[in-house]
Amino acid sequence: MPDTPNQPVFLADYQPPPFLVESVALTFRLHPTATRVLSEIRFRRNPAASAGHDLRLDGEGLNLISAQIDGTALATRPDATGLTVAAADLPDGPFLWQSEVQIAPEGNTALEGLYMSNGMYCTQCEAEGFRKITYYPDRPDVMAPFRVRIESDLPVLLSNGNPVASGTGWAEWDDPHPKPSYLFALVAGNLVSTADSFTTIEGRNVALNIWVRPGDEGSTAYAMDALKRAMRWDEQVYGRAYDLDIFNIVAVDDFNMGAMENKGLNIFNSRYVLATPETATDADFASIERIIAHEYFHNWTGNRITCRDWFQLSLKEGLTVFRDQQFMGDMRSHAVKRIEDVLTLRARQFREDAGPLAHPVRPESYVEINNFYTATVYEKGAELIRMLRLLVGEDRYSAALDLYFSRHDGQACTIEDWIAVFEEAGGRDLSQFKRWYGQAGTPRVDVTEDWQDGQYTLTLRQHTAPTPGQPLKEPLLIPVAMGLIGQDGREIVPTQVLELDGPTLSVTFDDLPTRPVLSLLRGFSAPVVLHHAQSAKDRAILLAHDTDPFNRFEAGRSLARDMLQAMIVETTTRPDAEFIDALRIVLCDATLDPAFRALALRLPGQDELAAALHEAGHRPDPVAIFEMRQSALKTLAEALKPDLLQVAQMMETPGPFSASANDAGRRALRVQAVALLAQVDGGAAARASFARANTMTEQLGAWTALLDIGAGAQEGAEFYRRWEGDRLVLDKWFAAQIMHALPQNAVALTRTLTCHPRFDWKNPNRFRAVIGALGANAAGFHSPDGAGYHLVADWLLRLDGANPQAAARNSTVFETWRRYDGDRQTLLQAELQRMASHPGLSRDMGEMVGRMLGE
Ligand code: BES
Ligand code: ZN
Repeated sequence: MPDTPNQPVFLADYQPPPFLVESVALTFRLHPTATRVLSEIRFRRNPAASAGHDLRLDGEGLNLISAQIDGTALATRPDATGLTVAAADLPDGPFLWQSEVQIAPEGNTALEGLYMSNGMYCTQCEAEGFRKITYYPDRPDVMAPFRVRIESDLPVLLSNGNPVASGTGWAEWDDPHPKPSYLFALVAGNLVSTADSFTTIEGRNVALNIWVRPGDEGSTAYAMDALKRAMRWDEQVYGRAYDLDIFNIVAVDDFNMGAMENKGLNIFNSRYVLATPETATDADFASIERIIAHEYFHNWTGNRITCRDWFQLSLKEGLTVFRDQQFMGDMRSHAVKRIEDVLTLRARQFREDAGPLAHPVRPESYVEINNFYTATVYEKGAELIRMLRLLVGEDRYSAALDLYFSRHDGQACTIEDWIAVFEEAGGRDLSQFKRWYGQAGTPRVDVTEDWQDGQYTLTLRQHTAPTPGQPLKEPLLIPVAMGLIGQDGREIVPTQVLELDGPTLSVTFDDLPTRPVLSLLRGFSAPVVLHHAQSAKDRAILLAHDTDPFNRFEAGRSLARDMLQAMIVETTTRPDAEFIDALRIVLCDATLDPAFRALALRLPGQDELAAALHEAGHRPDPVAIFEMRQSALKTLAEALKPDLLQVAQMMETPGPFSASANDAGRRALRVQAVALLAQVDGGAAARASFARANTMTEQLGAWTALLDIGAGAQEGAEFYRRWEGDRLVLDKWFAAQIMHALPQNAVALTRTLTCHPRFDWKNPNRFRAVIGALGANAAGFHSPDGAGYHLVADWLLRLDGANPQAAARNSTVFETWRRYDGDRQTLLQAELQRMASHPGLSRDMGEMVGRMLGE
C-alpha cells in the first residue's frame, strides 16, 4: 500500500516484508543538479510472508528514467511516495530489478537523502532518507549486502564497507555485511584525512581515517584518540570487535543531527569532530568523545543487530546511549557522569514526559518518524537498561548481552527479543518490568518515614499521572536503591535495592536507637520524581556525608531548589545561611573532585525552577524566576567571595593543555568561581580571566560571566575579530550573547543578529545558535509582550520551507506552553495555532504543532 502522507503508522499494523533483498548494486554518476543513480536489486520472496503480494518500492522526489525486471522494461508509473509492480507482472522465482533515476543534490536543503555541503556530496538516510536516492523497500527489516560504484571528478569517493577498486574519476566499494538501507552512505569531495590504524583483539588491522575540509586537519587529533579508546573499550567490556578493514569518519558542516553510524562510514556534524584547546570548550571535548564512541558502538548495537521497525528505535538508541554513558564513566568519573546524565534526563526527558509530547519509550504510532528521536527514546531508554542491569546484577547483565549478540547477530529485532535475553540469562520474569517500554509519563514516588522505639519504617507509594492517549496507568517495577546514614554522618545501613512493584511498599529496620537519615534512590536508580519532605538539616547531613556521590549532589540540589522556590513564592530575598554554609563546605573541600564541586555550585536553572513551581501548583513567571535567581547568585557570591577568590586561584591549570577530566574539572570550577565573583566585583576577575585565557573554556566562560552582569561588549567585539574565520567558534559568538542577554534585550538582539551577514539560517548549527539560543534564554524568550514567541515562530515557519526536520526539532521550545500564566499561555497558543494553519506546513511540523496543541 502507498503510504498516505500525514496518516499515522501503527506498531500493531506491522507485517513482515513480502520480498527480501539478496544483493544491491548501485552506480552513482554525481552531478549537482542531475545525478544519475542506477540500481540493481536481486529480490526473492519472503518465506515468512503470505504469497500474492505486489512489489511496493518506496521513492520520493525521484525522476524515474527507466525500470526493468529481469531485463524487460516496465511501464510502471510512480506515485508521490513510491511505485508498485502488480503481482501479476512478477516472475515466480527470484528476480532482478533494475532502475535508473535522476536527482538534484544541490537543491536538497532538507539535508536528507543525497545533498551537498560546501561542494561536497554527502548522504543522510536514517530513518527514511534512502527513498530519496532510489526506489527501494526502505525499511530496516530488509537487510542486504551493498556494492557501490561512484563516478565523479572529485578526489575522495567513499561509501560503506571495504574499497575494492578505483581509477581516475571512479571508485568501487563493497560492504559484505547485510544492512538496512538507512545505514547506506556516500561521500564525495575535496577532503583531506588524518590517518591512523588499530589492531583488533581478533588481529584485524583496521585503517582509520577522519576526513575533513582542507585546513581543518589540525583539529582531528582528539576525535581520533577517542575513536581508538572506544574501539578498545568495546572489546574489553562487551567483547565486540570491529569487522571491516577500514573505518572512515567524515565531518560535514551542514548536518541535521549530531552524527550518524553508517556502516564503516560514520558521518558527523563537524562540531562533533573538530577541536583544539583554543577553539573548543571542555564540554565540546566531552561531546566529541561521547559521540565518536556512540556512533562506533552502533556497529554492534544497531548495525549488526538492527531494529525490525522504527517503533523499536530504543532497542538501538537506548542501548547505545547506555553504552556511551558507561564508556564516559570509565574514561572520566562515574559520579560526575551520573550527575550530568541525570541533569539532562530531568531537563529534557522529564520535561517531555510532563507535557503534550509525552510518549512511551516504544511509541505505538507516529506520523513522521524523525519526530521520535526524542529524549524519551534515547535517555529514558538508557535508564531502562540501567535498571535492568541493577535488577539482574552485573554478571547476568553481561551474560544477557552475550546471548543477545550471539542469538541475534545479523537480525532485525524487537524489544521482546531484548527482554527475552534478560529473562533467560537474568533468570527472572520481567513481564512487569516491560511495562516501562509501553507506559509514558514519569512515575512519582511519595515517601513517608516513621521512627519509633528503635524501629524505622519506610513507605513508598507510586503514581503516574495521565499522559496524552494514556489516561490509566499501571504500577511499574521500580528499583529503589537506598541506605541509611546516622546523625553523626556514618553509614548504618549500606546500599540495598528495594523493588517497588505495586502501588505501595513498606520496609522496616530494627535496632536503630537514633533516628536515621534516609538516602533514597541512590545513584538515581530509577527515572522517577521523589516527593519526600526531608528536613533541611537531614539534607545538610547527606550533602556532607552520604557515601553515595549522586545523593550528595542531590541533597545540595534539592536544598537549592526548595530555597529558590520559597524565595520566588514568598518573594523573600535572601537564601538561608545553612544553605550558604553547606555550599562553602563543598566549595572548599579539597578532597572532592573539582568537577563535582563545580556542579554542586551551579544553582538550578530557569527551566528546572519553572518545572518545580508548576509541579507545586504555581504558574511560573520566567522573569520573576530570573530576578530571584540573580539575587540569590549575588547573595551567594557576597557570602563566599574570599573562598571563591581562593578557589579561582587554586584551580589554575599550569603546564601544557590537557583535555583530561581532571584538568577540565579544574577549569570548570575556576570558571564557575569567576562567574559568581562577577556578581560582586563588577567583572574584574572575569575581565582578567578573559585577557589571559588560552583555552576556549576560559575565554567563553569569562565573556559570558560579563554578559550576565550586562557588560562584555568590548570582549564580544574582540571575540568576533579573533574568531570570525572559524565557523564553529562563530556559532558560539552568536549563541553566547543571545543566551546571556539580559531579558529585556534578548529579543531585539536576536532580531539584530538575524540580519548579520554571517547568519546563514539554512545551516542547522547556525540556526540553533541564534533562534535556538533565544529559546534557551527563558526570561528573554518569555518576554511578556510575546515578541519572543512571534520571532521564533516566524523563523520556524521559514526554516520549515527548506528543512522540515530541523524546524520540527527546534519547535519543542513551545512544548511547555501550558505551564505559564494566562497571558503567556494565550500568546503561546496563538503562535502554535498560527503555525498549525500555515499553508504548506510540512508533515514534520504539522505533527509537532498538532501534538503540542493537544489535537
Ligand atoms: N542514529 C542517530 C542519528 C540520527 C538521528 C539519524 C535521527 C537520523 C535521525 C545517531 O546514532 C545518534 O543518536 N546521534 C545523536 C548523538 C548521540 C550521541 C546521542 C545525535 O545526532 O544527536
Ligand atoms: Zn545513536
